Amino acid sequence: MFRFPDLPINVVKPKEPVEAKIVESKICTLESSPNFIRHIVIDVSGTPLVGQFKAGQSIGVVAPGVDADGKPHKVRLYSVSSPSGGEGGNPNLVTTTVKRVVDENWETQELFTGVCSNYLCSKKAGDTLMISGPSGKRFILPENKEECNYVFFATGTGIAPFRAFLLDLFNSGFKGQVALCFGTPYRTDLLYHKWLTELAEKHENFHYFTAISREGRRADGTKTYVQHLVLDHKDVLEPILAADNTLMYICGLEGMEAGIYSNLASMGLYDYMKPGKNILDKPNTEWTWSDFKENVKPSDRTMVEVY
Ligand code: FAD
Ligand code: A2P
Repeated sequence: MFRFPDLPINVVKPKEPVEAKIVESKICTLESSPNFIRHIVIDVSGTPLVGQFKAGQSIGVVAPGVDADGKPHKVRLYSVSSPSGGEGGNPNLVTTTVKRVVDENWETQELFTGVCSNYLCSKKAGDTLMISGPSGKRFILPENKEECNYVFFATGTGIAPFRAFLLDLFNSGFKGQVALCFGTPYRTDLLYHKWLTELAEKHENFHYFTAISREGRRADGTKTYVQHLVLDHKDVLEPILAADNTLMYICGLEGMEAGIYSNLASMGLYDYMKPGKNILDKPNTEWTWSDFKENVKPSDRTMVEVY
């Protein structure tokens, strides 16, 4: 039922990156947010990467300089947030959504700034950078995308591939059901929120739900995480998830995966997961929280990109 294309990868290898140019870099978090996340438009014209990046794949970025061991920095991956035909239909333009990694160093107590995310977010229109790709073969839409329904789960910049998927789907008149569950720390961090809200208003087959973790608490005192939306919006999500032609995609923080499986299991929706060999002898109704965390893997209907 689900047929996936065999997309080319590493047309440009990370060890031989090519020069591309920043066209635009726009802040996507609202001004009072403590986080800095940018929508970055990259021009790949004149390189073998023209038209190569498809929704769900990633761009490799190689920051200049060397790491603590004196070796050139390793490639970092950033999800494509533009549609498969390129941003605005231009095959020369690919976009991504990057969060500056800024923290206190866990060990030294010094300021910790991630190498590549800060390199990328400091780039301005006209600057160049070295990129490779595409990367990723499995976190993509099926060939027969119009015959399926979709449930997407994102935290933070995990929204990037879903912007791309939604553009691919609705630019080609998608008629099935698609739901997006998006979790962020604050409302100021709901990336592409205006566009997503308008998309949901325009298309009654698109359902957009948000989970804000640091503003208020649930009745039991815990934070609202994206996996809670499965239960909070059961009326909409259960019929979509129960359909045989639905695919589930998870992108962002690894921690959400077990919570999603566990909440789906509480509704009897086991088709999106499969047991690892450590729990094969146990009926699925007896899986514990640690089983969900350690031993439950995605099934063929679940695509996962966590980092
Ligand atoms: P680095 O310099 O590599 O630092 C991060 C490392 O430092 C981590 O390994 C961590 O263990 C360690 N570290 C983190 N915080 C601290 C601390 N406080 N003290 C000490 N050590 C610490 N990111 C995006 O923003 N947008 C995307 O669309 C995106 N897509 C991705 C897609 C894929 C498939 C993958 C694998 C990753 C994606 N990422 C994305 C993450 C991205 O690749 C980088 O990992 C991220 O930007 C951090 O890279 P950096 O060079 O800035 O940080
Ligand atoms: P919090 O950090 O309040 O615990 P970002 O990548 O922009 O930081 O957003 C990640 C979001 O995912 C935050 O709201 C974060 O909440 C939330 N989050 C953290 N841990 C989990 C988890 N185990 N499951 C689901 N969401 C999580």
